[in-house]
Amino acid sequence: MEVKKILINRNQIEERVKELAEQINRDYAGITEPLVLVSILKGSFIFMADLCRYLTIPHVVDFMAVSSYSHSSSATKASGNVRIIMDCRENQQDRDVLIVEDILDSGHTLDYLIKNFKSRYTKSVKTIVLVRKNTKMSYPVDIDYIGFEIPDVWVVGYGLDYAEQYRTLPYIAELG
Ligand code: IMP
Ligand code: MG
Repeated sequence: MEVKKILINRNQIEERVKELAEQINRDYAGITEPLVLVSILKGSFIFMADLCRYLTIPHVVDFMAVSSYSHSSSATKASGNVRIIMDCRENQQDRDVLIVEDILDSGHTLDYLIKNFKSRYTKSVKTIVLVRKNTKMSYPVDIDYIGFEIPDVWVVGYGLDYAEQYRTLPYIAELG
């Protein structure tokens, strides 16, 4: 497996992340309690780091690790269950929460997380994904902010991996 084609380059990512942050700044303008940004590890750590630095609204960052793929990290097929490997630290009760995800494929992970967060008596739960794969979602979820739409191929870079490799590439590329 190697990088086959760059789908989204560094500048395109930077511009889009800025736009998304500006939209979030507008949508949450005037909030009194800081927005809780929850980055879903590991895939969204770079997206989160860039996004939060463009935010001008009050916010705090938090992290959560989940696994929705089978044990071998090289597997590219969903195992069918989502497991929380590491939970967040912030109290979410009565808070506005924004789940920050790298990529939306089947929708399973976000479907699980949205339901899970709502059960924590949050004030609101919204979702942002950098990349949405053009697949038929087996778990239809409403996403509030989407960076890019891409075809149904395996992508790496800007946080996304294949068997833990390629996460730190500055662009998003198709693997083949
Ligand atoms: P879903 O639960 O099927 O929507 O899958 C979402 C999760 O699968 C993401 O959080 C990623 O960790 C992983 N994933 C899905 N597609 C890709 C890909 O093309 N590259 C890297 N990770 C992916
Ligand atoms: Mg992920």
